[in-house]
Amino acid sequence: MIRLENIRKAYHDPETGRTTVALSDVSLAVKTGEFACLLGPSGCGKSTTINLLAGFTRPTRGRVWFDGNPISDPGLDRGVVFQEPVLFSWLTVRQNVEFGLTSMGLSRGERHRLAMTALSMVGLADQEAALPHTLSGGMKQRVALARVLVVNPKVMLMDEPFSALDPPTRERLQDELLKVRGNCPVLFVTHNPLEAAYLADTIYIMAHAPLGITARIIVNLERPRDREGTDLQRLVHELRGHLDQLPSAASSPMPICISKSHPYPYKTRQETC
Ligand SMILES: Nc1ncnc2c1ncn2[C@@H]1O[C@H](COP(=O)(O)OP(=O)(O)OP(=O)(O)O)[C@@H](O)[C@H]1O
Ligand SMILES: [Mg+2]
Repeated sequence: MIRLENIRKAYHDPETGRTTVALSDVSLAVKTGEFACLLGPSGCGKSTTINLLAGFTRPTRGRVWFDGNPISDPGLDRGVVFQEPVLFSWLTVRQNVEFGLTSMGLSRGERHRLAMTALSMVGLADQEAALPHTLSGGMKQRVALARVLVVNPKVMLMDEPFSALDPPTRERLQDELLKVRGNCPVLFVTHNPLEAAYLADTIYIMAHAPLGITARIIVNLERPRDREGTDLQRLVHELRGHLDQLPSAASSPMPICISKSHPYPYKTRQETC
């Protein structure tokens, strides 16, 4: 459904002349119906990956595919949820959710109906007239989720959407997400091994460039999963092991570099749990 192929992404700062390589040679794919997690330390290029797939930025080299076509721009077919919910403070909850529908040529009544359906899915129908500043962090993130769900995207790209929330709210929203996404493929960024183990069908471990994806772990645990269960805890332990083995940004062989491509003999491991 979505695919990054041998992606290099370098950011150049013309003022300092510095080039930062965020992604050196990254490939990954999310299949139809799949829930994939991207797990890695701060600064390894997770948001850059999401931004490339969302069409917010372009690769320096390599190709980004969505549904068989190269991605060049943002589109409503890819719903993006960020760490901080980006809501319009002067619009009500329902108007925020309706906003994404404005370019679709729907009648007011239809927009209203779809927005209320999406708000019901995230349990916020009774807050339709509230303004964002009156909502808790978890409620705001639910509105952001409803705003994506309302346009019925073909894929959801989620960049640490629950990381600012307290653990019980975070767990509730994880469960709601699994319910409301239906069969929609998801690429979900997290730092948190438990979150990845609980949510994902496939987990990509990501390290700082030039390593990139160092392991692809296929999770065969049954759903609904038990966060305290032995199998899940074993997987969490294994994921922590993967993360502990990664070099830090400072000791990474090439966190910063200039233009040339850099072959690195690190093989991506594939495991099934
Ligand atoms: N617009 C930009 N200009 C210059 N450098 C950037 C830009 N965006 C990201 N970077 C750099 O690219 C690298 C990867 O950043 P990115 O935000 O993708 O990491 P991340 O894995 O999402 O980190 P975090 O977990 O902290 O959100 C970092 O070194 C960062 O400083
Ligand atoms: Mg990030």
